[in-house]
Amino acid sequence: MAMAESMNPWREKGIPLEQQYRSWKQRLKTPYDKHNVDPFTRLRVILMNGIENESRMYKHAFARAAGNGEIKNLLARTRMMEQQQQTRVNWLNPADQPVLETTIAYEQVAVELTAHLARIEPDPYVRATFDFGLLEDFDHLYRYSELLDYLEGKDSRSILKGQTDVLPGRPTIDHHNDPVLRLRKHYEKNRALPLSKLHILTLLSGEQQTYLFYKPHGFMHPQRRARELYAEIGEVEEAHVTQYESLWTPPRPGWSGRCCTS
Ligand SMILES: [Fe+2]
Ligand SMILES: [Fe+2]
Repeated sequence: MAMAESMNPWREKGIPLEQQYRSWKQRLKTPYDKHNVDPFTRLRVILMNGIENESRMYKHAFARAAGNGEIKNLLARTRMMEQQQQTRVNWLNPADQPVLETTIAYEQVAVELTAHLARIEPDPYVRATFDFGLLEDFDHLYRYSELLDYLEGKDSRSILKGQTDVLPGRPTIDHHNDPVLRLRKHYEKNRALPLSKLHILTLLSGEQQTYLFYKPHGFMHPQRRARELYAEIGEVEEAHVTQYESLWTPPRPGWSGRCCTS
């Protein structure tokens, strides 16, 4: 593939699936140095890992609804490569980066990505939904920063490198409500711009990844206060996935859950 700045997805030919397999040794790359890394490099690692996870999980759900054997075969082969790419990307994170430091970076992804997408999103309704979520993730970054200060006396700006503001946002206490309130109107698939679809799916993948990280890591903290914060914010990330996912168009009326007949 060409350099990232000149990449044009419409021109890229891709690599045939059968040529994508990498051995375990080929798959693992040297992790970044957490002291010198550009925070946006770390953000890209976190987000890309979330996109790979979403891709793999979506294809599992698709395979369960698909009746066609050929589709199931292709999905199984594709998932094998998604999980290889997921490992390759996620294991660029270094072992000396503690869970709470990684968590600060996860909320930095949420704030920076949501703010950027809201700024360039062409659909006002989608943009308003992003703006709302952004205010909530601001508060998460603030609260985890407070936790880092409380537990270790560390300033989260040493991780954020001054790139992201740490401010109270919409108070987390107000984030817990009937999840049905989170459901937004979905876009019309024939009228929505491809850019809006990409924005929604990208943000959904990032939020889902945040949920996936907090659930198996929150309990690693011995302090009850830290465990409670992960439990509380993990629940909000589930609500964020619900919120962004609901913008996505549902299957056509009458769809039986079986996309093809074998
Ligand atoms: Fe968050
Ligand atoms: Fe979030």
